[in-house]
Amino acid sequence: MNARITSLSNPTVKAVRALHMRKERDETGLFVAEGLKNVIEGIDTGHAPKILMHGPDAAAHPMMKKAVQATLAAGGQVIEVTHDILAKVSRRENPQAVVGVFPQAFIDLKDVKPGAAECVVALHRVRDPGNLGTIIRTADSAGCGALVLVGECCDPYSVEAVRATMGSIFAVPLARATEAEFAAWRAGWTGSVVGTLLTAEVDHRKAAYRKPALILMGNEQQGLTPDLAALCDVNVKIPMRGRADSLNLSVATGIMIYAATG
Ligand SMILES: C[S@@+](CC[C@H](N)C(=O)[O-])C[C@H]1O[C@@H](n2cnc3c(N)ncnc32)[C@H](O)[C@@H]1O
Repeated sequence: MNARITSLSNPTVKAVRALHMRKERDETGLFVAEGLKNVIEGIDTGHAPKILMHGPDAAAHPMMKKAVQATLAAGGQVIEVTHDILAKVSRRENPQAVVGVFPQAFIDLKDVKPGAAECVVALHRVRDPGNLGTIIRTADSAGCGALVLVGECCDPYSVEAVRATMGSIFAVPLARATEAEFAAWRAGWTGSVVGTLLTAEVDHRKAAYRKPALILMGNEQQGLTPDLAALCDVNVKIPMRGRADSLNLSVATGIMIYAATG
């Protein structure tokens, strides 16, 4: 018999709600993925929920049996909750009927190895969780081997970023590095290291992307810093033909990833 919670002041409900705060996610190493499709995506890629919360109506869904079995088999909890609790946990009036609490899965930078895929993406000081989630989704779509977060970045496991990944949060290995760690690790990279700069003279379509390509993208406001641009074999520019002075970071990253993997 699964547990049932109806009180908003239940400690488990409070703990899951607290995962909206980065401090809490950092301390617990957990994050929230909403929706049965995303929960199943996690399970299918080897990530079982620690907690599976569902509304009263979700239990009848054909995929719920699989989600419940995987959660219990991994020692997790399955809890039926009210619509109000799901709304508070998701901070939405119309919440998804299923919410999973999963362990974060950062990998060590040393485990991101050239040769694992055609392309790896590195983001310097990415600030916007929507951009980061969209880039993770694009990196998954194009078959990138990993994504490296360089310097102080927003959290890929925030609810906003996870929502924007549409389930790809489970598919793309994520690593973190300081600028100095990235510089040391980059020295062992065997393919092309391609930076992106609005001031670059090389058209991104003319650059050589020796596989595996490491694509380096800059911050939304400041762009790529000179220190990081200097670490690249080549810096490229995507042509800007109209009046806009730059592309959105996630759009530019998508163009670069497909140029490097085409
Ligand atoms: C919004 S842009 C940064 C704009 C910033 N004001 C600057 O001067 O670089 C964010 C990132 O997207 C990438 N980007 C955007 N437009 C680009 C373009 N036309 N060519 C190459 N990279 C671009 C770069 O990585 C850049 O650092």
